[in-house]
Amino acid sequence: MIRDRFARPLGSLRVSVTDRCNLRCRYCMPEAEYVWLPKSSLLTFEEIARLTGVFAGLGVTKVRLTGGEPLLRHELAALVSMLHAEPRLADLALTTNGVLLERFAAALKAAGLGRVTVSLDTLRPERMQEFARSGRHADVLAGIAAARGAGFERVKLNTVVVRGFNDDEIADLVAFGERHGAEVRFIEYMDVGGATRWSRDQVVSRAEILERLGAQFGPITAVPDRDHPAAPAERFRLASGTTFGIIASVTAPFCASCDRSRLTADGTWFLCLYAAKGIDLREPLRAGASDADLEALIRETWQGRADRGAEERLGVRERGVLYPIEALRADPRREMHTRGG
Ligand code: GTP
Ligand code: 5AD
Ligand code: SF4
Repeated sequence: MIRDRFARPLGSLRVSVTDRCNLRCRYCMPEAEYVWLPKSSLLTFEEIARLTGVFAGLGVTKVRLTGGEPLLRHELAALVSMLHAEPRLADLALTTNGVLLERFAAALKAAGLGRVTVSLDTLRPERMQEFARSGRHADVLAGIAAARGAGFERVKLNTVVVRGFNDDEIADLVAFGERHGAEVRFIEYMDVGGATRWSRDQVVSRAEILERLGAQFGPITAVPDRDHPAAPAERFRLASGTTFGIIASVTAPFCASCDRSRLTADGTWFLCLYAAKGIDLREPLRAGASDADLEALIRETWQGRADRGAEERLGVRERGVLYPIEALRADPRREMHTRGG
């Protein structure tokens, strides 16, 4: 196991397999046009599996496949099989918007995928049309049902709460999760790259979410999660027994226990969601570096890590968008959809 300058281990890796997406969620991809990573720069499955193996050798046990929308990557189940064959990876998960999940859920399960998280911001199709510029709400619901049907026992739902858009659906979403055997996690709207419409007043804080749910459902108790000290979500329980999570990245960042890093689809390794620059792993990989060379590069880089992006943002007084649109176009790796949500 290796540790960074704040003694945080390298435990989890988020692997973005494509920067493309079939939705245009307002908190992530609100613009009309995007600059995409060049096709030739995308890592092949063999390259992803090889890098993941090197990370596993340094202590990574959790891998989460992300995008853009990961199910847009051709034959994703084949990559899942390759990663499943790595015995050191105890936890293999996927974050998807669910639009294509019905088609692929069974194949992903058969390939060895362990867990699925689906983004679900609203229960109202017309709102999704407006908010994500998509009419495929029914497909997302079918995807969630298909994941359960395929045998994924712990499906999670991610809801980014944005004031004036879906903050009136918090209680309905908890009830939906209860009915469908899925745990909802409410995420504070973050000022990450890509969130070009972000403003402080649209953030609905953890405190406010708890207050609203308490008013509707009665007393809420915190559920301590000793098994997952680095998990971003804090879990809570209603009197009915239903649990839900809150990811308070804006008002209560969890940088102090953050064990995660992220690999973009073109092989750039980011040590923090907010990091301005990443480390190019594709270049050495394609230039013939050995596993030992790659391991040394990753070890040395992690040992120098002092990132705590979300905590630093807390100290910004006039907090606005992280990057202006020109800066995102100049380097698409600054986009949340490129570095994997
Ligand atoms: P598990 O705990 O393994 O289920 O997964 P997860 O919660 O890490 O995965 P998921 O992709 O569902 O992440 C949930 C959300 O947490 C993301 O979409 C982001 O909004 C937020 N998030 C993920 N990683 C980071 C991070 O490194 N820093 C911060 N501040 N927020 C993050
Ligand atoms: N704030 C919070 N979460 C975001 N995501 C994307 N953009 C944002 C943002 N601005 C996350 C959502 C989604 C995942 C893919 O990325 O949780 O479910
Ligand atoms: Fe929405 Fe995820 Fe696509 Fe971003 S990458 S637009 S959050 S579905």
